[in-house]
Amino acid sequence: QTLESRTLESVAKYITERKVRRIVVMTGAGISTAAGIPDFRSPDTGLYANLARLNLPYAEAVFDISYFRNNPLPFYTLAHELYPGRYRPTVTHCFIKLLYDKGLLLKLFTQNIDCLEREAGVPGEMIVEAHGSFASQRCIECKTELPDTIMKKAVREREVPRCLRKTCNGLVKPDIVFFGEALPEAFHRNRTLPASADLAIIMGTSLSVQPFASLPSYVREETPRILINLERVGGLGSRADDVLILGECDAGVRKLADALGWLDELEDLWQR
Ligand code: OAD
Repeated sequence: QTLESRTLESVAKYITERKVRRIVVMTGAGISTAAGIPDFRSPDTGLYANLARLNLPYAEAVFDISYFRNNPLPFYTLAHELYPGRYRPTVTHCFIKLLYDKGLLLKLFTQNIDCLEREAGVPGEMIVEAHGSFASQRCIECKTELPDTIMKKAVREREVPRCLRKTCNGLVKPDIVFFGEALPEAFHRNRTLPASADLAIIMGTSLSVQPFASLPSYVREETPRILINLERVGGLGSRADDVLILGECDAGVRKLADALGWLDELEDLWQR
């Protein structure tokens, strides 16, 4: 066992005394719910529980590429609500920025498409957006990119954007990874990076979608893994040095920052 005990205080001591420098962070929709963006699978508040109005055959169809080809409207109805620009980063996003500022962040793996990590100031090259993002978009047939201005207008007006090449006229989709599509090359390139981390922090994800869900298993046995989440997920807690901080992400992150003596810095970042 590497930690003295499986507590937050013990992790803080480990970070300070062992001169931890290579932290991998893995995140999901739960880090953005405090910003007002619903997650996917929470029983009453999650997106999948609230899609009845879109008349989908099953909830995940909204992010399914073959369904999208035939009926892109449900996705664009949702995109209208989720489109970046309306939301502010949470304390948890700022905590990741703080890790970066302190030179402790090895890599952030996120499943989120809301771009709030970038908005909090984490540089793009530190982030693996495993499920893509709303940052760019292209035709699903000929792959021609569509300018942001045209995309924003379409989303605002709840219209389905089409390829600008008249001979093509294919459907345009943000570069979000849908079910049935491959993950970005950056994910595969960095997939085994957690093996060289000296700490892993997993926050706000149900770890129910592969291959992302297998990332924590690449962390070495002797490396502590912290889970900050409402519920226990992904078998975390099964190793001797797994630490579970169950509850709201922002609360857990504040407690950890406090134990590290970083709470004022964190609040400053968040209020900026
Ligand atoms: P989920 O909705 O599956 O899981 C969110 C997790 O965060 C759950 O375990 C919640 O209990 C927890 N949670 C919610 N709010 C929280 C809070 N304030 N504090 C702490 N924990 C909280 O979301 P993801 O794991 O991100 O894919 O879902 C993975 C993928 O499934 C998404 O990227 C998306 C979806 O289908 C695509 O769209 C391609």
